[in-house]
Amino acid sequence: MGQSWGKQQQSGNVNAMFLGPPGSGKGTQSERFVRHFGVCHLDAGTMLRAVAKAESELGKRVRGLMNEGRLVDDQTICEIIEQNLDKPECKKGFLLDGFPRTQAQAERLDDMLGRRRQQLNGVVEFAIDDRLLEERIVGRLMHVPSGRVYHEKFRPPQVPGKDDVTGEPLTRRSDDNAETLRTRLAQYHEKTRPLTDYYGRRHLMHRLDASRSQDQVWQDLLRIFKQA
Ligand code: AP5
Repeated sequence: MGQSWGKQQQSGNVNAMFLGPPGSGKGTQSERFVRHFGVCHLDAGTMLRAVAKAESELGKRVRGLMNEGRLVDDQTICEIIEQNLDKPECKKGFLLDGFPRTQAQAERLDDMLGRRRQQLNGVVEFAIDDRLLEERIVGRLMHVPSGRVYHEKFRPPQVPGKDDVTGEPLTRRSDDNAETLRTRLAQYHEKTRPLTDYYGRRHLMHRLDASRSQDQVWQDLLRIFKQA
C-alpha cells in the first residue's frame, strides 16, 4: 500500500486532508481552499448531517450519535466517502475535511485511493489549545444551504443573524454546546489525533497554528500546497 502514497501527485491534482479538533477552523478554511484549488469538498460532517435528517433507522442512529458528540460507525462514513470520491467535481482533486477520524477509516481510505491510483499530497493538522475551542463553537452560526460559516465575534455577518449572500437566516448546530464539545474533543484526542503519526510516517504531515487569524492560517495553507 505504501507505494500508492507520495508527496507529488502525478496528474498535478491537489488531494488534501484536514485533521483538527472541533472548532479549529477546518470548515472555514475549506471554503477558501476549494475555491482556490478548484477541488471538491468531501466534508464528512455535512454529509452525515444530511443522512441524519432522514426518519429511517440509519437516520435516527446517525442523528443520535452526532447529537451526543460521538463518532458515527466506520462502515457508514466510509461508504459515503467512497460514493462521493467518484463525483465529477472530484476529477481535479479533493479536500477531505473530517475524514478519516479513526485508524480503520484511514486504512479504508488507503484502499479506496489505491484502487483509483490516487495519492494524497498533504495532510494538515489544525493545532490549537482545547481551551480556545469553546468560545469558537458556542458562537458559531451556519448558513446551512451554502455551508458558509460565521461567528458572532470572530466573523460576524453584515446583518446580525442573516447570510451575507442570500439574506437567509443563520442557524446553530445542535451539537454546538459546551457539554457535547467535551465528548467531541475526547473522541478527537483518543481516536483521531493518533492519525498524525500514521500520516507522519509517510512524510505527508504538516502542522499549522490554528489559533491565529483566519488570514494567517490561510497563508500557511497556501505555503503548504505551494501555489501562493
Ligand atoms: P463535523 O461537522 O466535521 O464537526 P467537527 O470536526 O467537530 O468540526 P467543526 O465543524 O465543529 O469545526 P471546524 O474545525 O470545521 O471549525 P469551523 O471552521 O466551523 O462533525 C460533526 C459530527 O459528525 C462528529 O461529532 C461525528 O459525530 C460525526 N462525524 C463527522 N465525521 C466523522 C467521521 N469521519 N467518522 C465518524 N463520525 C464522523 O470554525 C468554528 C468557529 O470558529 C466558526 O464560527 C468560525 O467562524 C470560527 N473560526 C474559524 N477559524 C477561526 C480563527 N482563525 N480565529 C477565530 N475564529 C475562527
